[in-house]
Amino acid sequence: MNENEDSVELRYKDHVKQLKIIQGTDGNKAVDISNLKQETGFITYDPGYQNTSAYKSGISFVDGEKGILRYRGIPIEELATKSTFVETAYLLIYGNLPEKKELHTFSRHLNEYSLLHEDMVHFFHNIPQHAHPMATLSMMVNGLSIFYKDAFDLEGEFTGKEPLDITIARLISIIRTIAAFSYKKYKGEPFVYPRPDLKYCANFLNMMFSNPVNPYEIADEDVKLLNILLTVHADHEQNCSTSTVKLVGSSRVNLYASICSGICALWGPLHGGANQKVIEMLYNIKRDNLTIKDVLEKAKRKSEPYRLMGVGHRVYKTFDPRAKILKDICATRLTNDRRLDPYFEIALELEHSILKDDYFIERNLYPNVDFYSGLLYRSLGIPTNMFTVMFAIGRIPGWIAQWKEMRDSTSKIGRPRQVYVGNNLDHYVPLDLRGQK
Ligand code: ACO
Repeated sequence: MNENEDSVELRYKDHVKQLKIIQGTDGNKAVDISNLKQETGFITYDPGYQNTSAYKSGISFVDGEKGILRYRGIPIEELATKSTFVETAYLLIYGNLPEKKELHTFSRHLNEYSLLHEDMVHFFHNIPQHAHPMATLSMMVNGLSIFYKDAFDLEGEFTGKEPLDITIARLISIIRTIAAFSYKKYKGEPFVYPRPDLKYCANFLNMMFSNPVNPYEIADEDVKLLNILLTVHADHEQNCSTSTVKLVGSSRVNLYASICSGICALWGPLHGGANQKVIEMLYNIKRDNLTIKDVLEKAKRKSEPYRLMGVGHRVYKTFDPRAKILKDICATRLTNDRRLDPYFEIALELEHSILKDDYFIERNLYPNVDFYSGLLYRSLGIPTNMFTVMFAIGRIPGWIAQWKEMRDSTSKIGRPRQVYVGNNLDHYVPLDLRGQK
C-alpha cells in the first residue's frame, strides 16, 4: 500500500483500488473498506476485530501505546480526582460538562427514577439466594422493558426527547437499586430503599450496608472512593461489552435489552469478570502458599489454559492509566492499620515480577484496571461476586452514551461477514441410506 494525502492504494493482480483514508482526532486514521466487496469481491478478515472500527465515535479516546484515556477530551486522571460519577455520566452521555441547572435536573431525575417497580421487587423473592449477581442484574435490566415502556412507542421508536432522558436516568439510577437489592437478598436482610436526601454513591452504600438494627455511617472517604471507581470504569471506547450493546442496539431493539446484552458480555472472565477472578487468584496464592515464580511459570505454559487475571489488554501496550490511579489509592488506603490487606502485598509482588519477566515484557502485558479494582471494592465491604456488578454500574453511562451516539447517527445494522470454510454443495441423504456411501 502506498499512502498519500487522503487515500491508499490496494494492488491485486493488475488492479489498483484507491481506498479513502478517514482522519480522526490526534493522529487517528483508518482505511475505509466499506465498499471493498462491491468493487473487488474481497472482504477483510480480522479475528476478534483486532483492527476493525465499525464506528466513528467522539466519546472516549484511548492511546494504548502511551497509556492515555480521555472522556470527551478530558484526561481520566482529572475526572477521577475532580469530578463525580454523576457529572462524568452527564459528560459522556450529553457531550459536555453540565451547567449547574443541567446537573440539578439530571440529579433530580436520578432521584425520581431510582425506585424499582414493586412488582419487580417480588422477582427477588424467587431468585435462589446464591444466584450470581450478574445473572440477577441482566435479568432485571431486561425485565425493565416489561415495566417501563415510556421511551418507546409500540414500534420501538422514540416518542420524544424528554422520555429518552428519563429512560437514561432510570437506567443509571435503578441499576444501583437492583444491585443493592440483590445483595440484601443474598444476606437475607430486608431491602433498603433509595433515599432522596443522599447523593448517588452515598445512596448506594446506604442501600447496601444499612439495616434496621445497624444504621450505617456513610464515610466521606468511601463515597469519594466509590465515585472514583465508577468514574474510571465509565467508558472505554469499543470494548467487548460496548460493541455488544451497539451490535444488539443496531437492530433497533429497546435500550434496556441492549444494555442487558452488554451486562452479559461484561460478565466473562476475559472482560469485566476478571475483577472477581483476580481476587480468587490472589486468594489461591495465599491459601495454597504458592510462590509468585510458580504462578508466573504456570501462566506462561501454553499447555495450561491458566492466565494471570487482571493482566494484559487488547489496546494498552503499557500501563493501563486506570490501573495506575487505583494502585495509588490502594497504596494509601490498604496499608494503614485499619484496612491492611494481605492481598495487596501479593498483588504488588506479582506486578513487580511481571514487569521484570521477559514473557510479559515481550508481549507488553501489564496490569489492567481489574488488577487493583477488586482490592478497593473489598475495602468498601463489597463481596467478591459483586465486583463485576460494580463494573456494570460504572459502565452504564458509557454504554448509554455509545448507544445514543449510534442511534443519533445514520448507523447501519451491525452485520459482520465471514470467510466460509465449510462443505461444498452436498445433498440430503435419507436416514436409512446414511452410512452406506
Ligand atoms: N497471562 C498470561 N499470558 C497472557 C495473558 C495473561 N493474562 N494475556 C495475554 N497473554 C499472552 C497470550 O497467551 C498470548 O501469547 P502468545 O502470543 O504466545 O500466544 C499473548 O499474550 C497475546 O494474548 P492474546 O490473548 O492474543 O491477546 P488479546 O488482546 O486477544 O487478549 C486479554 C486480551 C483477553 C485481556 C488477555 O490479555 C487476557 O486474557 N487477560 C486476562 C484476563 C483479563 O484481565 N481481562 C480483563 C481485560 S480489561 C477489561 O476487559 C476491562
